[in-house]
Amino acid sequence: MKTTFTWYGHATLGLTVGEHKLLVDPFFTGNPVAPITADEAFADFILITHGHGDHVGDAQAIAKRNNALIISNFEIAGWFAEQGLESHAQHLGGGFHHPFGYLKLTLALHGSALPDGGYGGNPAGLLLTTPDGKKIYMAGDTGLFGDMQLIGDEGIDLAVIPIGDNYTMGPDDALRAVKLLRPKQVVPIHYNTWPLIEQDPHAWKARVEAETSAKVVVLKPGESLDLDS
Ligand code: NI
Ligand code: MN
Repeated sequence: MKTTFTWYGHATLGLTVGEHKLLVDPFFTGNPVAPITADEAFADFILITHGHGDHVGDAQAIAKRNNALIISNFEIAGWFAEQGLESHAQHLGGGFHHPFGYLKLTLALHGSALPDGGYGGNPAGLLLTTPDGKKIYMAGDTGLFGDMQLIGDEGIDLAVIPIGDNYTMGPDDALRAVKLLRPKQVVPIHYNTWPLIEQDPHAWKARVEAETSAKVVVLKPGESLDLDS
């Protein structure tokens, strides 16, 4: 089964798992580094980690146009359902067998207020096990936490973690996160969108690869990584 990961800049992720197309935190409008517009984005499933505007983003418009199912925590799934969209609610620690694999919501240390001030519940990370057994951990916006060790115990093929600092882990804590998660590959995200979260991903890659066995893949917005090799 072919699994492809795409970074659209900031925390906007694309995953193609077999014939299923997923978008995570689809923030295109107002995202200065987005390589495509919201009108050009396609998805069967839209996964939302938390309620902040740079993560809820264009989810409503893209879901409506594509008839996509929105998957998020109970509070955010309900917020989308009130807008007439199809949604599936899960919560922290809970997993569900979707057509694209087994998706579990994990802990994330962050906030989750929705763009209209509504209550967005607790922020989450996403742990996806594809039907052929690949494990992809998308941390969402989070600070470092020790239970990343437990997530790492599952055997992570790809970890997608923030390194931007200020709102999330910065480079130092993200390096500690890699030591807890022990993934085969890591893609850094949530940096170089705005001056406030400017980082050098190549310097971070050198540090991580000197101190761990993980391979860091630095993508440019719009670039993809094939997970079959
Ligand atoms: Ni956030
Ligand atoms: Mn964010």
